[in-house]
Amino acid sequence: MELLTLIEHAKLNFDENGTPISSAFDDIYFSKHDGIAETEYVFIKHNQLQDRWPVISDQFHIGETGFGTGLNFLVAWQLLNQVNQTRNTPLKLKFTSFEKYPVTQQDLKQALSAWPQLKELADALIQSYPVAFTDEHVITLQDGLVELNLIIGDVNQRIKELPSLSGNDGIHAWFLDGFAPSKNPDMWTDNLYKNMARLSAPGATLATFTAAGAVRRGLQAVGFEVKKVKGFGHKREMLSAQLTNETIG
Ligand SMILES: C[S@@+](CC[C@H](N)C(=O)[O-])C[C@H]1O[C@@H](n2cnc3c(N)ncnc32)[C@H](O)[C@@H]1O
Repeated sequence: MELLTLIEHAKLNFDENGTPISSAFDDIYFSKHDGIAETEYVFIKHNQLQDRWPVISDQFHIGETGFGTGLNFLVAWQLLNQVNQTRNTPLKLKFTSFEKYPVTQQDLKQALSAWPQLKELADALIQSYPVAFTDEHVITLQDGLVELNLIIGDVNQRIKELPSLSGNDGIHAWFLDGFAPSKNPDMWTDNLYKNMARLSAPGATLATFTAAGAVRRGLQAVGFEVKKVKGFGHKREMLSAQLTNETIG
């Protein structure tokens, strides 16, 4: 018998600057002022994507917790297109993102209207974005060069269900997003870190905006070597990590 899960949409408010805010978590999806710069700094730079993409083989797989408005996805896709102009054979991007409370297509459109510089890619995403959600949506973009795998539901549950990935199918870089651990403690669990390590390709990297001690220790315990680095903007610290498979304890 198929188990039907109830899918709850995100409840968003937009403040006077157009910044989307989750009323359930009382936290922002991104800052309208510097959301792109934050994504570039936290997730792109601290996974070294600009250095890795010109020189790797044919496919790169990113895993993300919390798809939200898709801003991180769009910024990665934009970089892919820039890098592909310099490559002989185009790199393919697979992007697997977990989302418990998907934003509606209408809210996605409104949130992404903040970024005229991403308009072409945002329009393509909005057009293919589900209107009604099921457990999983595989969205193929740019003639198959980009595959977005949107997995709906609580990441702690859904990630356990994924079969292990071998070789180049494994996840090469993690965007550990999601609202702050203090506002969303249920997401940041040892079960999550364990399954992230399980689904990773050897040497996978990870970046997250938080520097919370429990997150650092949780990642170390499953084999990530974790560094505290300067955070974005006024934030003092964040974490960047690489899988070494030397588990603690
Ligand atoms: C800060 S937003 C992510 C921003 C997003 N990466 C972007 O580019 O717009 C955090 C997201 O994590 C999602 N989330 C929170 N807890 C979750 C959970 N347990 N499982 C899956 N998604 C979760 C929220 O619904 C929200 O969309």
